[in-house]
Amino acid sequence: MDIRNKVALVTGASSGIGAATARKLAAEGVIVGLAARRRDRLDALATEIEGNGGSAIALETDVTDMASCKKAADTLITAHGRIDVLVNNAGLMPLSDIDSFKTDEWQRMVDVNITGCSMSRRLCYRR
Ligand SMILES: NC(=O)c1ccc[n+]([C@@H]2O[C@H](COP(=O)([O-])OP(=O)(O)OC[C@H]3O[C@@H](n4cnc5c(N)ncnc54)[C@H](OP(=O)(O)O)[C@@H]3O)[C@@H](O)[C@H]2O)c1
Repeated sequence: MDIRNKVALVTGASSGIGAATARKLAAEGVIVGLAARRRDRLDALATEIEGNGGSAIALETDVTDMASCKKAADTLITAHGRIDVLVNNAGLMPLSDIDSFKTDEWQRMVDVNITGCSMSRRLCYRR
């Protein structure tokens, strides 16, 4: 399948699986929007991708914030006309025993892994 010039938004692109996925997609000719909170990492990755002949745009984003998600999606659509693919990867996985009752961690997981994922999806695929 030819995926060159598709436009992908990768959330959680500042490290780990998201950064690796963004690199791989860019190497295949996909235009990548790099979304996460750590701007310095996104800028470094965008520079790396562009240096390798790819196309990338850094989009400082907090997926738990609707306005921030909307801004990222809007910026990518304004720059490249559309979003074809969402890699809805931003997330956390703090591990703790249920009896430790770390409700703040649980709430953060819900905010990022559930609310953040659904907001990103909604904003990327609105028509
Ligand atoms: N690695 C594994 O073995 C494994 C196993 C099962 C599931 N997963 C899931 O796969 C995904 C990626 O895992 P990983 O190992 O690559 O983790 P990681 O290196 O910790 O990356 C997590 C990414 O999510 C971003 N993120 C966190 N909170 C965010 C927020 N509020 N807004 C925007 N971005 C946010 C982080 O960027 P910033 O901090 O810059 O915002 C980072 O880029 C996660 O959803 C994880 O739960 C991983």
